[in-house]
Amino acid sequence: MIKARNLTKKFGEVNAVTNVNLFVEKGEIYGFLGPNGAGKTTTIRMLTGSLKPTKGTVKIMGLDMETHEIEIKKRIGVVPDEPRIYPYLKGKEFLDFICDIYDLNKRQLSPRIDELCSAFGVDYLEKIVSDMSHGMKQKLYLISVLMRKPEVVFLDEPTVGLDAKSAKILKLLLKKYIEDGCTVFMTTHVLEIAEKMCKRIGIIHLGQLIAEGTLDELREQTADKKASLEDVFLELTSEGENIEEIIKEL
Ligand SMILES: Nc1ncnc2c1ncn2[C@@H]1O[C@H](COP(=O)(O)OP(=O)(O)O)[C@@H](O)[C@H]1O
Ligand SMILES: [Mg+2]
Repeated sequence: MIKARNLTKKFGEVNAVTNVNLFVEKGEIYGFLGPNGAGKTTTIRMLTGSLKPTKGTVKIMGLDMETHEIEIKKRIGVVPDEPRIYPYLKGKEFLDFICDIYDLNKRQLSPRIDELCSAFGVDYLEKIVSDMSHGMKQKLYLISVLMRKPEVVFLDEPTVGLDAKSAKILKLLLKKYIEDGCTVFMTTHVLEIAEKMCKRIGIIHLGQLIAEGTLDELREQTADKKASLEDVFLELTSEGENIEEIIKEL
């Protein structure tokens, strides 16, 4: 469902993403991990057609992003790290707007929207977006994507700003979603989410995919075969090396 070859993005002198290869099968939840600034958002933006790669190719559902961008965008869902929604729309107007853009039947979708709203505790569709908190906007955005049931959904740090119950509901929904044959690509720095939800995990560091596999396969690459994902992550990204020194200095 997702195939990227030698995906590369340079911003001037900055090598944000370098030669990343990805392959995600139908029905899989793929977790994309990396420290801040590692290149996760840049990768997701290239995979979803909002940023042109400097080099490399993206295929989604077998379609080439270069030649089938609109068709791909019709069929995928993207939840960005910042829920940017027109501030002067009411929640309900935003959902109507998305229905119009994607040419969806509002009446048919209405029961699904009601279900999603009650699952996420969204009882503020009459509120104007500029009066919503980050978490409230995030949930509205999630509903606008999940209501369409896209075949592939990309989520960039989806649990940031969500309360514990909403985060749990999102996790359960995504699991159900893949059981229906959909595919999920998700970045997160919450390692516990990746550990619990993702069949395969890729770790990006300084723009390069430095490890990939199931948690067991990742553990094989570290000294401690019983390590938690947190330890594996810190060891592979060498971020753990000086933590104790830093704490001592503080
Ligand atoms: N539009 C941009 N212009 C210039 N540099 C950028 C831009 N977007 C991201 N970068 C740089 O690319 C690198 C990767 O950023 P990003 O993909 O946002 O990381 P992550 O999402 O993993 O935190 C960082 O060094 C960041 O400063
Ligand atoms: Mg990011």
